[in-house]
Amino acid sequence: MNISDKPLKNIIVLVSGGGTNLQALIDAQNNGQIIGGKISCVISSNPNAYALVRAKENGIPTRIIPRKLYKDNKSYSEAVLEALYEEYADLIVLAGFMTILDKSIVKAYPYKIINVHPALIPSFCGQGFYGLKVHEEALKYGVKISGATVHFVNEIADAGAIIMQKAVAVKNDDTPEKLQKRIMQEAEWKILPETVSLFCQDRIEINNGKAYIKDCLLYTSPSPRDTERSR
Ligand code: GAR
Repeated sequence: MNISDKPLKNIIVLVSGGGTNLQALIDAQNNGQIIGGKISCVISSNPNAYALVRAKENGIPTRIIPRKLYKDNKSYSEAVLEALYEEYADLIVLAGFMTILDKSIVKAYPYKIINVHPALIPSFCGQGFYGLKVHEEALKYGVKISGATVHFVNEIADAGAIIMQKAVAVKNDDTPEKLQKRIMQEAEWKILPETVSLFCQDRIEINNGKAYIKDCLLYTSPSPRDTERSR
């Protein structure tokens, strides 16, 4: 069966903040770059997330499940899980979602939840590494290359199978804010929509707990020098 004959996969995007990664997905969808799926709902843990405005402006249904109303991750995850069932989720994308989900969700959706992390995993990742903190630690360490990773979510924070990574050069005068912005622009906003589209085309396969892109030799990270030259 051709991919265009299959029903579109329901992509549910989970957000907590500004939603620039959500915007990258919306832009890719509007440009016809998400093949085989559609963003069918955006769920926010934060009622004031600007990501909700982005969704509404693009006619995408939203749900708010405020993290603050739940006593722990377990009860919060139960509420999210119920919403995912109601939305007939085929793919769940954590796009700047700042809550660790309980293992019940991972169990219900194995290899169907992906996360974008703003560093090259296994560096600067795991519990406590999110948002600006990741870039502060990278600069503190003095790494010369950082980047972004899209990976499947498993029971351990940022430890699921890596699907795609892209490297970004660290500059001498970088601040956490500057580095964050460059990693978003050059890496996150590119590899997240690419991965979502590949997933929706059933082009990501799992072998021995590792993820591979089918029929593709090209998905390798360009070196930071290549990125510099193309600007
Ligand atoms: C992004 O940089 C994303 O990678 C990061 O938070 C930011 C959200 O921005 N996520 C994590 O750190 C998760 N560990 P956005 O709301 O503008 O997409």
